[in-house]
Amino acid sequence: MLRRSIVVVALLAAAAGFATVVPYVQVQPAAAVPAFARQYDLQCNACHTRPPRLNRFGEQFHMMGFQIPSASRPDGLLGSLKEDGPAKTLIDSLALRVVGGLLEYSESPRETETRLEPPHEVEFFIARPITPSLSLYAELEYQPNGVAFSRDRGFFDSGHTFGLGKEAFFMWNMGALLGAVGAPTMEMGGQTMIGRHGGFTMHGPMLMAGKVDPNTNFSYSTNRQMLLDTELEFEREPGEDRSEVHRLPIVPYAFASKFFGLFKNRSEREPQLVTDQVMYNTTGAPGADFHAMINDVVLAEVGFLSENEGFNTYGMLRYDLLDRRELTFNVSVLLNWGFGVVRAPDPEDHDHPGDTRLDRLRYGIAANLKWKALDVYGAVIIDRLYGLPGALRGDFDRSAAGLTLEVDYLAHEKVMLSGRFDQLWAGGLKDDKLDATVLSAQAKFYPWQNIAFFVRDSVNLRPFKEDNALRNWRNQLFVGIDWDF
Ligand code: HEC
Repeated sequence: MLRRSIVVVALLAAAAGFATVVPYVQVQPAAAVPAFARQYDLQCNACHTRPPRLNRFGEQFHMMGFQIPSASRPDGLLGSLKEDGPAKTLIDSLALRVVGGLLEYSESPRETETRLEPPHEVEFFIARPITPSLSLYAELEYQPNGVAFSRDRGFFDSGHTFGLGKEAFFMWNMGALLGAVGAPTMEMGGQTMIGRHGGFTMHGPMLMAGKVDPNTNFSYSTNRQMLLDTELEFEREPGEDRSEVHRLPIVPYAFASKFFGLFKNRSEREPQLVTDQVMYNTTGAPGADFHAMINDVVLAEVGFLSENEGFNTYGMLRYDLLDRRELTFNVSVLLNWGFGVVRAPDPEDHDHPGDTRLDRLRYGIAANLKWKALDVYGAVIIDRLYGLPGALRGDFDRSAAGLTLEVDYLAHEKVMLSGRFDQLWAGGLKDDKLDATVLSAQAKFYPWQNIAFFVRDSVNLRPFKEDNALRNWRNQLFVGIDWDF
């Protein structure tokens, strides 16, 4: 407890330190806010349609390992330290994001509630090229009222949580390594690229290792959502030793686990919730990812990812079919196999994990079209489980699918309108499983580049079901804030 408070104090002190440097940062020309903007002296719009969505330039910047070849420092971190001094180098490497609710209103036939909600997430970022071929990116996360599965107690609980955020990795451009074993190479701003001018070119291969979000290069990336995931709600009856999930969050169903009745592990009996974003589409998991961009149009990716008691292997191909100034279109296909990544329920007692770990096949397609102020992206993902115990066969549906489609429209410099459609064809225990269809709409207002207020409403398009955590609501309205520094 004490250690946690110290960390929180350190975080607040760092935040306060930021606040005092704001005026200093702002007098510099075009000094935009978070880390990358500061390091490259660029406005947010150079890389983002509106944060956190990336435009084509921002995506390429990410694929190339957070480097802009023409602007990267050949002498990397040492150069910045020498030229800018340690203080500016440090500040330029850090960023802060506060997101969350201000107000929540939810409606269901039995109870309609309105409540004030404090911002639920503070994220702290460290992002920095160390050398032209090596970069670091890490997130720390503080949730004043986060919901987490309590390992000691074996149920969901809320409280302060602080720790490593979704992602924490290094990205290493291995181009020079291939050059050393004979591949033809070119130099650009200290970066090595495979190929020849005017001929075949390849950026990478890039190794991204640590706690990674492999789908960052997918046409529909899990972490770059205009519509934030809602919070899991749980209930604990007085005197009970376990809490019950009362309402599952609203998330992009395409990437969700989709199966009712599964468990993450045996020792802690932690359920794998229907709405957990899993496998390749995780928000971040320990792993190693290799990707390479060929002729600036094809991106090939393979990797390993640990998950629960097992691990994933995956391959993804992305093709950028159209790449004009105001019109871009890309398609991605995914093939993902998880070895023993989830646990089947006990055939005798469905509330407990059984002896069997299951393999999971996931495949699907995603696409993204950007045209002027319009950003349309969607994905269809299909999941199938293998290795189910014979005794469960009759009670359990082994396949599931999800579809998510989002449209963002920058209606005005300061107004982003978004709509998302989520469809879940659920699998899992036949007695519990239910499909779901949700339509969400959001208006986000940006009085400044880095501060936004949003109003968002989600509607359950299926009949209300009292005893099902996916469908026991009709309407949920949120008002919130998204503040980046
Ligand atoms: C040089 C390119 C660049 C510039 C300029 C830039 N960003 Fe980013 N930003 C990125 C990349 C790359 C990511 C990482 C996305 C990912 O990991 O999926 C990112 C991520 C983010 C995120 C999401 C973090 C998260 O995972 O929650 C926010 C918020 C954000 N940027 C805000 C801003 C703001 C505000 C500005 C301007 C003040 C800005 N960025 C300028 C490239 C840039």
